[in-house]
Amino acid sequence: MAIRIIGTGSALPKKQVTNKELESRVDTSDEWIRERTGIGSRHISTGETLVSLTAQACGRALENAGRQASEVELLLVATCSPERGIPCAACQVQSALGADRAVAFDLNAACAGFLFALNTACAYVEAGIYRNALVAGGEVLSKIVDWTDRGTCILFGDGAGACLVEKCDRGGLLGFVQHSDGSRGDVLKCDSRPLKNPFVSLEMEAPYVQMDGREVFAFAVRQVPESITEVLHKTGIAVEEVDLFVLHQANRRIIEGIAKRLGADISRFPVNLDRVGNMSSAAIPVLLDELNRQGKLQAGMKLVLSGFGAGLTYGSCVMEWQ
Ligand code: COA
Repeated sequence: MAIRIIGTGSALPKKQVTNKELESRVDTSDEWIRERTGIGSRHISTGETLVSLTAQACGRALENAGRQASEVELLLVATCSPERGIPCAACQVQSALGADRAVAFDLNAACAGFLFALNTACAYVEAGIYRNALVAGGEVLSKIVDWTDRGTCILFGDGAGACLVEKCDRGGLLGFVQHSDGSRGDVLKCDSRPLKNPFVSLEMEAPYVQMDGREVFAFAVRQVPESITEVLHKTGIAVEEVDLFVLHQANRRIIEGIAKRLGADISRFPVNLDRVGNMSSAAIPVLLDELNRQGKLQAGMKLVLSGFGAGLTYGSCVMEWQ
């Protein structure tokens, strides 16, 4: 028994910000950004919230699957940019959708968040605890990005994506691997509130994303192919049998490096980061939804999904699309 995806959905803020527009804010250029990252523009919230975007993406996934919100048993939201500390985003989305029966909670594994949430849903369904799950990844990263730091603000975008999954007897999610390396947490981080109470008041760094880009780049190009190879080995599937590699959309050069290490043709690595930038946990489900709606996912196709990011966290899964 496993899970299969029966519906996908996504939502992006209306405002699209091009590299050209960023030139007036930080010392950068369209040429530099495109060459180093492959990014041409991204969607940035001018009012859309993490909850409104994620609820919209979830609603579209339900519609795509022909299911009602009241049928959802588990609702997982992967995010590292929630609107509130409490309640969790998933409970807010549950309320917005009217998914009254669902158990809802968040999961934060940064850019690997959606993948970890999908694997979590799989474990619950395989254990027979729930029959279906709405799994979403949503981010409004623009509020935690330092818009004066050209090394990071050019990379990220806002958006949300979701998948409705249900148990199946064959095909679907064939296997997954997940890894965490907390010892390298400092290479990509964003502080939360400092400790402040009547007994102590600690200083903190600005609560913005801070990153050692080169370290993150090296980590991704080295460890993502390893995790993909590991999951392919585990499921007995060869690189050549994989139709599409749906990777976290961080940087075109990272994706090219991964393709090269795997010995797989780059044409099997769909990309949308040129239009949406890096949306962290929203990246994979948004790309999956675009591919689904473009009719590029056919029954029987084998997909590898792979996420990686702050933590450090990384993981991959293989699924047979149905
Ligand atoms: N525009 C113009 N110049 C920039 C710039 C920008 N937006 N950002 C950095 N630079 C400059 C640097 O200041 C540096 O200048 P210097 O040589 O005068 O000091 C130069 O470009 C090279 O910087 P470097 O950081 O070495 O560039 P890079 O080739 O490593 O590219 C990243 C930087 C961020 C694009 C790249 O490291 C990267 O993509 N890393 C992975 C980040 C990522 O994907 N994070 C999320 C993972 S989930």
